[in-house]
Amino acid sequence: MRCGSIEGTGVVEAIRPLTEDTWAMEVRAPWIAEGALPGRFLLLRPLPGRDPLLGRPLAIAGTAGETVHLLVQAVGRGTSILASLPRGASVQLRGPLGRGFPGEPRGRLLLLGGGVGGAPLRVASQLLSWGGMAHRFRLGLPDHRWIPFGRHLQGEFPWLELWSEDGSIGSEGTPLEELPTDVEEVWACGPPGMLRALCRSVPSGVRCFVSMEARMACGYGGCLGCAVPTTGGMRRACTDGPVFAGEEILWDELG
Ligand SMILES: Cc1cc2nc3c(=O)[nH]c(=O)nc-3n(C[C@H](O)[C@H](O)[C@H](O)COP(=O)(O)OP(=O)(O)OC[C@H]3O[C@@H](n4cnc5c(N)ncnc54)[C@H](O)[C@@H]3O)c2cc1C
Ligand code: FES
Repeated sequence: MRCGSIEGTGVVEAIRPLTEDTWAMEVRAPWIAEGALPGRFLLLRPLPGRDPLLGRPLAIAGTAGETVHLLVQAVGRGTSILASLPRGASVQLRGPLGRGFPGEPRGRLLLLGGGVGGAPLRVASQLLSWGGMAHRFRLGLPDHRWIPFGRHLQGEFPWLELWSEDGSIGSEGTPLEELPTDVEEVWACGPPGMLRALCRSVPSGVRCFVSMEARMACGYGGCLGCAVPTTGGMRRACTDGPVFAGEEILWDELG
């Protein structure tokens, strides 16, 4: 799923902390909404200035009118700077970029996320429910520190099934436990270990699509910085992905 992308300036309309290192951000960027399909992403960097020089990839978590919703986890310098932006700050946005999840599932669908990997699944669940398409939505969280993040998403999606490794919210364990037996397709996003375990545990015949994380620079397919090992050779997460069929990924060769 791919549409033309564009670069422009967006304005932070709202930003609020969910946990000590995750934020829900809303950015006014009128050109984004049309191509904001599940799994597509933006490259985002603050303006003015050159720090950081390169935009950081963030999944489109939703849209409302001319505003795009994002979920940001501060893990390093780039995401920490983005998370500290005040309301009214300008950002450079490139996107929507990449190929997302399939337009429509071929059978009973499970959305399965881990942590901020829930971001592209948020917009997927939004669009599927608007289209009256039944699906399940599961999200795994590491521990009690993520409770406000889980509650935030559960407030928006009452059908969200939460799992936490310490049992502090939802069911205890990972979202891979007790995978529903009637599922025919899975769309997943989260840490590579979770995606690898998922692809190895789903019964054959279940189609699995995974959104892959990679360091990115250009987002347009020019720098080869985002290469992912696949059965078809090294493929670019920014233009060939970030969503790939799980069976394509050479999990043992991932860095
Ligand atoms: C297509 C795509 C969509 C993404 N969507 C989102 C999203 O919606 N929300 C979001 O918060 N992030 C998302 N990410 C991940 C995000 O882009 C990275 O976390 C970010 O680029 C890290 O930049 P940094 O400068 O903050 O950290 P860096 O300085 O680059 O890294 C700092 C440290 O964090 C580690 N690190 C880097 N990335 C991650 C990570 N993802 N998880 C844990 N540790 C990491 C590094 O190994 C390093 O040790 C997405 C990535 C891709 C490729
Ligand atoms: S980020 Fe440059 S090729 Fe993908």
